Amino acid sequence: PLVSLRTVLDHAAEHHYGVPAFNVNNLEQIHAILQAADATQSPVILQASSGARKYAGEMFVKHLIEAAVASYPKLPVVMHQDHGTSLAVCMSAVNLGFSSVMMDGSLKEDGKTPADYHYNVTVTREVVQLAHQKGVSVEGELGCLGSLETGMGEEEDGVGANRKLSHEEMLTDPEQARQFVEATGVDALAIAIGTSHGAYKFTRPPTGEVLAIERIKAIHEAIPHTHLVMHGSSSVPQELLSEVREFGGDIKPTWGVPVAEIQRAIKYGVRKINIDTDLRLAMTGAIRKHFITNPADFDPRAYLKPAIAAMRAVCEARYQEFGAAGMA
Ligand code: G3H
Ligand code: 13P
Ligand code: NA
Ligand code: ZN
Repeated sequence: PLVSLRTVLDHAAEHHYGVPAFNVNNLEQIHAILQAADATQSPVILQASSGARKYAGEMFVKHLIEAAVASYPKLPVVMHQDHGTSLAVCMSAVNLGFSSVMMDGSLKEDGKTPADYHYNVTVTREVVQLAHQKGVSVEGELGCLGSLETGMGEEEDGVGANRKLSHEEMLTDPEQARQFVEATGVDALAIAIGTSHGAYKFTRPPTGEVLAIERIKAIHEAIPHTHLVMHGSSSVPQELLSEVREFGGDIKPTWGVPVAEIQRAIKYGVRKINIDTDLRLAMTGAIRKHFITNPADFDPRAYLKPAIAAMRAVCEARYQEFGAAGMA
């Protein structure tokens, strides 16, 4: 059935596991995730960004996810808006039938410029008041998810404005998190603890700690009833990069968040783990390989099938690794 994010994450907290939240844009990605969840009996969080809603068309996103719910009636499925940039975006998701929305008030409506704390509280509180009336969960965000490379030496990738901030300043402050939760009533909170979005997270192989684990512990202690969310959680597996490169892709050397680090984060309170990049890499590698090895094929089903299989394998692995398997 379609369930709220609160329902799924309350169960995860009670049983000490994490739930991967996978980004979706099309039919094939939804099939890959549901096949993996069905095979492992895992709870499902399907999240659509504003870009996904624009790409697919919002009626398609809604009805594709509803088709997944109807096709797998026993699995709990959350339909979540990823990175809502305004009250209007979040409320349009609620009106479409989403069971959960993220109000990312850490950024202004352009989705780029850092916003101040007061704006974040005000807009997020408004979303919570309206969404909760309809039984819809709300995820907020506090802190600056950037090019932080905790324990990785100097920054080399430098993503814009974040460069000017020190590592400490970029991490979510536990006391501010407590105030934010009290003022807004969010069900879940995305925190800045050392991750960043996209494929280019770390410029060399992570040795030792990548995440600010002590900070996760402190935030979890400050807001024990609010579920912690980790964005930018792709592991960027080297074997997926190799396949993309082997079949003509051009991807610079890069590393992601090791699965073992995510497992430690789950141990200390992280419940929702956002993953998009790994899925993109898996599908792209499979499609590139198919085109190169079957140059005469031109039926889209022929190359989308291995793409689904490759993405499904990543999803199954994450369900197992995060302890979500068997929890549906
Ligand atoms: O946080 C961003 C997600 O990876 C979705 O990306 O905005 O390109 O759909 P997108
Ligand atoms: P990745 O780019 O690490 O997959 O993160 C995705 C994400 O956080 C979506 O909100
Ligand atoms: Na932010
Ligand atoms: Zn994100």
